[in-house]
Amino acid sequence: MTQPRFPNTFLWGAATAAYQIEGAVHEDGRGPSIWDTFSHTPGQTFNGDTGDIACDHYHRWRDDVALMRDLGLQAYRFSIAWPRILPEGTGAINQRGLDFYDRLVDELLAAQITPFVTLYHWDLPQALQDRGGWANRATVDAFVTYTEAVARRLGDRVKHWITHNEPWVVAFVGNLQGRHAPGLQDLRTALQVSHHLLLSHGLAVPVLRANSADAEVGITLDLSPIRPATDTPEDQRAAQLFDGGWNRWFLDPLFGRGYPADMLEFYGDLMPAVTTDDLATIAAPFDALGINYYRPTFASAVPLDENPLGYRSLSGPELAERGYEVTEMGWAVEAAALDELLQQVNREYAPKALYITENGASFPDQVVDGTIDDPRRLAYLHGHFQAAHQSIEAGVPLRGYFVWSLMDNFEWGLGYSKRFGIVHVDYQTQQRTPKSSALWYRQVIAANAVVDPE
Ligand code: FCB
Repeated sequence: MTQPRFPNTFLWGAATAAYQIEGAVHEDGRGPSIWDTFSHTPGQTFNGDTGDIACDHYHRWRDDVALMRDLGLQAYRFSIAWPRILPEGTGAINQRGLDFYDRLVDELLAAQITPFVTLYHWDLPQALQDRGGWANRATVDAFVTYTEAVARRLGDRVKHWITHNEPWVVAFVGNLQGRHAPGLQDLRTALQVSHHLLLSHGLAVPVLRANSADAEVGITLDLSPIRPATDTPEDQRAAQLFDGGWNRWFLDPLFGRGYPADMLEFYGDLMPAVTTDDLATIAAPFDALGINYYRPTFASAVPLDENPLGYRSLSGPELAERGYEVTEMGWAVEAAALDELLQQVNREYAPKALYITENGASFPDQVVDGTIDDPRRLAYLHGHFQAAHQSIEAGVPLRGYFVWSLMDNFEWGLGYSKRFGIVHVDYQTQQRTPKSSALWYRQVIAANAVVDPE
């Protein structure tokens, strides 16, 4: 069967993040990050797992690039560890930290893999958290200084920049739900943090442009189509709050509309002061919107004294009852929702270009005779690639697709218990083994089409 092809310039890649794969937390002058502190605090991560060693990528990067080349990857999205570049968050730049990424970028380019660099994938220098973290406006300035240091060093070769990864998670999972570093539980702080993240993005955009000629600059949001769990007015209101607080809260100001009025009303005086200058800064025109998409979400109303956001999402068992396939994360599998989301974002906000900067699934993998057959992950990707193709057909300017993740890694609060990789990692030996999904992905990339699994 002939499969529909993707545009010739379409980029197929995979993504990772520094703290999830690098390890080597004390090497070459790296300072501590909030994730070192959090993961070393008893009770905060599954099994007490930490990123101390992770996938040891800091020592194995050359082999990892060779692996990417073998899989035929055309692009690789990774993040820079701020505490390697500025161990104290501000002040002296640690050249050895920059050297690591400099070598990595050269190796990628030699392998004809286009680097996509994320500046902030959650590992804030602990020294900055000690001074209030993202709730302190000084951290915004520190981020801009850090951005400049990285862009000056890599900007001649890196032409795709992502300021932030998933500001919703940073602000709300880290500062309201407390499931991520820094582990705070305060809505006012979370709102202040979200505003500062957006502000730092807006200020970083011109700095990246100034230090990286012709670069494509963007930001990555985790977006999800939100549906009411039932058609009661309560659940419909919950879905509105969910969509407003998760999707529109970031999209609207980035695209020059300011914060959504319904949400400002809902948050009331918990909302920090926002000036029109701030809003203009946040709305700095950018080139590409990155979307991390994993699942559709079903919103169910809960009383405000149980959850100050007024909603919860349906759990894995509840989704299974509705007939959904559910991943290890308790997330519903629905590929068509990706197409729905892409078309909706395109219609509503008309970004110049879009990338899927993350998409993938965690399923229980089994190593049998040294091989890992992962048909569910493969089917997940198959369906989502097809959905992406439909969006392109419908006119969505989707330019590339990054599978999460290149390899199994430290899944934040869930430690090593969840495997998202298309490459299996044996954490005892650090051996990498491509799963059947990776071998199939290699065929997809070679054909630039969603080939049928064998
Ligand atoms: C996203 C994160 C990424 C990874 C995936 C599973 O929220 O950006 O680091 O943890 O989820």
